[in-house]
Amino acid sequence: MKDVKLSDSAKETVEIMLTAWPAIVRERWRDKILHIAKLYGASKGCDEVDDKTLIETIDLWPLSENKWRLKSAIAKSRGESLQMGFKKDMPGFTPSVSSWSAPSEKRIAKSKKEKLKVTAVLGSPRKGGNTDILLDKMLDGAQSAGAETEKIVLSKLDIKFCTGCDACTKKNLENYCTIKDDMTRELYKKFVDCDILIEAFPIYTGRESAMLANYHDRLYGLGRLPWTWETEELRKGAIIVTWGAPGKSSFENVIEHHINLMAWHGIIVEEAVYASFCTEKGIIASDEDGLKKAFEAGRKIVEL
Ligand SMILES: Cc1cc2nc3c(=O)[nH]c(=O)nc-3n(C[C@H](O)[C@H](O)[C@H](O)COP(=O)(O)O)c2cc1C
Repeated sequence: MKDVKLSDSAKETVEIMLTAWPAIVRERWRDKILHIAKLYGASKGCDEVDDKTLIETIDLWPLSENKWRLKSAIAKSRGESLQMGFKKDMPGFTPSVSSWSAPSEKRIAKSKKEKLKVTAVLGSPRKGGNTDILLDKMLDGAQSAGAETEKIVLSKLDIKFCTGCDACTKKNLENYCTIKDDMTRELYKKFVDCDILIEAFPIYTGRESAMLANYHDRLYGLGRLPWTWETEELRKGAIIVTWGAPGKSSFENVIEHHINLMAWHGIIVEEAVYASFCTEKGIIASDEDGLKKAFEAGRKIVEL
C-alpha cells in the first residue's frame, strides 16, 4: 500500500478527536483512526491526508462512539458553533425522523398466516411522548395492512430484574422463569405468540432506556440463544429509537447494536425508524413526513 502521511494539522485534529475517549481506550482508537485515515487517503490517491479528509473518515469508523460528540469536540476546539450537548434553540436543526428498510429481495419469508399478530413493546415511560407517537403511527400502518396489533407499555407493568439464578437454562420451567411478575404472567407468552415484534425506546444516557434493557435481560429466560437460527424459525421485527441530540447519525451505534440483540432472539429487524432532536415531549409530531415514514414502515413490515 502507498505510504500515506498525515498533514500537521490533521495530526493535531487526531489529538483533539482522541480527547472524546477516556484515556484507557484512547491509544486503541489512535491506531484505528490512523489506519482508517491512511487507507482512505490511499484509496483517494492522496500522498497526505489533510484535515478535511480526516474528518470525512469519521463516518467510516466502527460504531462504538457517538460521532456527533466527536465532531462537536473538533468544532469546539476551533471556536465554531457546533455545540456539545443539545439545546432547544440550536439553529438549523429540527426534530426529524429517518428510516432504514431492508431491501425487499433480502427479507426473510413472510408468514403464511392470514392475519398476522404484531406485538409492540414501548420502552418509554411517557404516554404521548416521541417514541409513543411514532409507535402508534407504525401500528396504524401495520393495521392498514391487515394485521392485528397490540401495544405493551412496559412502564405500566411489574417486571423485576433478572436474579441470575440460571434456572431458565437448567430446568424446563412452565413459564420460562422462576420470578412471579408480568413477564411470567403474560409477556413471555406474548413474545412467543407474536408473528412480528416491534421494540420502541428512547435513548437514555447514550443507550436504550433501562426498562427496555431489563425486558431484554428477562428474555434470556426463554433459555434459547443459539448462535444461528433455522431459517423457518426466524420472525420479522421493527425498531423505533428517539433521542434529543441533533445528529441524525448520533446513535446509529445503539440502533445497530439493538438490531443485533433482537437477532439473538431470532427477530430480524427489517424496518428501523429513528428520530433526532426530540428535545420536548411529543415534538416529533411536527415532522409530518416523519410520521408517514413510521406508518409506511408499519405497513411494509406486514406486507413485505
Ligand atoms: C433520563 C434521560 C436520559 C436521556 N439521555 C439522552 C442521551 O444520552 N442522548 C440524547 O440525545 N437524548 C437523551 N435523552 C432525551 C430523550 O432521548 C428524548 O427526549 C426522547 O425523545 C424521549 O422519548 P419520549 O418522548 O418517548 O419519552 C434523555 C432523556 C432522559 C429522560
